[in-house]
Amino acid sequence: MPATVLVGLQWGDEGKAKVLDELAGEADIIVRYQGGSNAGHTVWLGQEKYAFHLVPSGVLRPGKLCLVGNGVVFEPGLFVEEVADLRKRGVKLGAENLRVSGLAHLVMPYHRLIDTLAEKRRGKSSIGTTGRGIGPAYADKAARTGLRVCDLLAPEYFLSRVAARLDELNPMLEKVYGHPALDPRKVADEVLAFAEPIRPMVADVSALLLDALDAGRSVLFEGAQGALLDIDFGTYPFVTSSNATTLGAAAGAGVPPFRLDKALGIVKAYTTRVGSGPFPTELLEATGEALRQKGGEFGTTTGRPRRCGWFDAVAVRYAARLNGVREAVLTKLDVLDGQPAVKIATAYRLDGRTTESFPADVAALSRVEPVYEQMPGWSEDTSKARKFDDLPAAARNYVLRLEKLSGLRFPGVSVGRGRDQTLRR
Ligand code: IMO
Ligand code: MG
Repeated sequence: MPATVLVGLQWGDEGKAKVLDELAGEADIIVRYQGGSNAGHTVWLGQEKYAFHLVPSGVLRPGKLCLVGNGVVFEPGLFVEEVADLRKRGVKLGAENLRVSGLAHLVMPYHRLIDTLAEKRRGKSSIGTTGRGIGPAYADKAARTGLRVCDLLAPEYFLSRVAARLDELNPMLEKVYGHPALDPRKVADEVLAFAEPIRPMVADVSALLLDALDAGRSVLFEGAQGALLDIDFGTYPFVTSSNATTLGAAAGAGVPPFRLDKALGIVKAYTTRVGSGPFPTELLEATGEALRQKGGEFGTTTGRPRRCGWFDAVAVRYAARLNGVREAVLTKLDVLDGQPAVKIATAYRLDGRTTESFPADVAALSRVEPVYEQMPGWSEDTSKARKFDDLPAAARNYVLRLEKLSGLRFPGVSVGRGRDQTLRR
């Protein structure tokens, strides 16, 4: 398919990067379209772990063009550091295979600062952000007080915009947060120090994509976060600040929606969530801890333990429909090995009624009680399976039941982090 959007159907960390890495082998171009360094995308090549935040995970495939779209919020220092680290590990990166949209907004040092200060001030009602300045950067974009990648190339203009922004921000830093005012020159210089290494990579990403699609080349749109963290359709306010659904792909890459051909979902065999917000199927006892340990459910970006719970078919059905997804790769099935029984939420009880629809209103979502269907577990080690038929019957039945309940087809089922551990169907 020429233009395929990859999207997480839960609260992020579904294993998007592993699937992207597999599909990237057959694609020409990989583009990130939203989010920023809040994303933590992990790819394992044998025993080697690669964790990506801003650079598209497609760079591990030689000969692919990787793009950062205008919808991403871009932190120059972190990008330069990530590129340097990858180069040190032998990944070839340069303007020939890595380009950044001049229209992408910058995450400035004061965005990180405000993210952290605001979260601290919120105390118990904090969102549990990654502290990467994502919300404040998107807020500046919407308020038209942001700075963009193209501005890095015009230092005088850059400084004047930083000065104007800090003129408004400094009184707030001092009076509300008791933080010393920031010096515009220092802030501007700190960021401009990264302009030169980035300059050759700055490009009109939208035009590159439109030309490539006209020429019949294939493009993978790499989503970050997950549908339930989408700013419009997720569990607001416990969401990220961008459209983490396929709905964000067109605007965030600069491609008309009519040119997107297909969406492929990524969904984990159970549920996780990092940060605050309602989570109906959360397991607060030993089973949740067991999934966390076996699944290595600790944040790639912040190291925080992820909250774990059973598969929520109500939430996934909602996400699948909203994203226009009919097919998804099911990941981390092996993490459920050894559970005596596995449960799936098929509906919610809400205020004395049973509902099969997902309330994207957190007040309602906080009150729901999941209605579970229980299935027998399996004790076999599924990570050794190489074909769907190698799986024990109970695991196969679980997968087929998830398909039915979430209205999806799973052409791939992943049972481990290795490239050979995806069972194709
Ligand atoms: P990937 O791409 C899981 C969560 C944070 C917090 C909320 C808002 O690896 O799936 P933010 O820093 O974006 O303002 O935080 O969103 N969050 C993620 N959770 N995976 C991610 O990315 C996430 N990116 C942000 O934990 O609850
Ligand atoms: Mg992640």
